[in-house]
Amino acid sequence: MTTTPRVQAEVPVIAIDGPGGSGKGTVARAVARRLGWHLLDSGALYRLVGVAAGLMGISLDDGPGLARLASGLDASFDSSADSERGILLAGRDATDQIRSEAAGEAASRVAAIPAVRAALVARQRGFRKEPGLVADGRDMGSTIFPDAALKVFLTADVEERARRRHNQLKQKGIDVSLAALSKDMAARDRRDAERTVAPLRACPDARILDSTGIVVDEVVLQVLRWAAEAYPEVAYRMPVTEFVPEPFSRGGSSMCPPRWWLSARA
Ligand code: DC
Repeated sequence: MTTTPRVQAEVPVIAIDGPGGSGKGTVARAVARRLGWHLLDSGALYRLVGVAAGLMGISLDDGPGLARLASGLDASFDSSADSERGILLAGRDATDQIRSEAAGEAASRVAAIPAVRAALVARQRGFRKEPGLVADGRDMGSTIFPDAALKVFLTADVEERARRRHNQLKQKGIDVSLAALSKDMAARDRRDAERTVAPLRACPDARILDSTGIVVDEVVLQVLRWAAEAYPEVAYRMPVTEFVPEPFSRGGSSMCPPRWWLSARA
């Protein structure tokens, strides 16, 4: 049997959007790994623009300058879910640099500029390649891949998100106060949600998943179940046992379904 290669628009995409610290990066990577699909960490692109602006002395208020920088951004990164490093800026490894809180703050500011966002659209769509793509960001479902058959909006309480980020930073030896982190995170959420272009919000056709108090494996499994509904080819990659929709029997109480199950059905 011969198979005709699919055109790019037919390549399956799972869009995972949500606020910072919701776990979408970890979940997107785990899902992409399980499926053997490509991964797009779109936040890394905005972080790269922010870091590059700092290196080149371009002010974060200089919209046209930042848009020019974004459209000619000399950056590359691997779309393999197995490599967490290798983010290059002008040929130099910038993986650690872009993960700092300062880079996150700069990213949030450059991401609010419509011309910067427009300059990055084609680059993001270019990640859509066989056999499939898991794309993580804020506007993957609403703007970049509006035709994705599975859109997930992953969220969690701001306190829990701040705690997760705090732990991540602590593991990297970065010491910041939890209260300050929580305050910054709420401010960044507000900026991301209130900007005029591609604001952070769940699109009407997204499945909402609240991961507060839920272990990451549970969240990954739920996304994979939805993926199998949206894309038949995913079903072939999952063991039958993982399809048994029995979350009510977990945790010992049939009366107490996990919260993601409830939000998913709301
Ligand atoms: O997901 P992250 O923390 O790496 O994202 C960094 C910033 O970039 C964040 O403030 C939101 C912004 N961003 C965006 O506006 N659109 C995206 N698709 C991804 C990130």
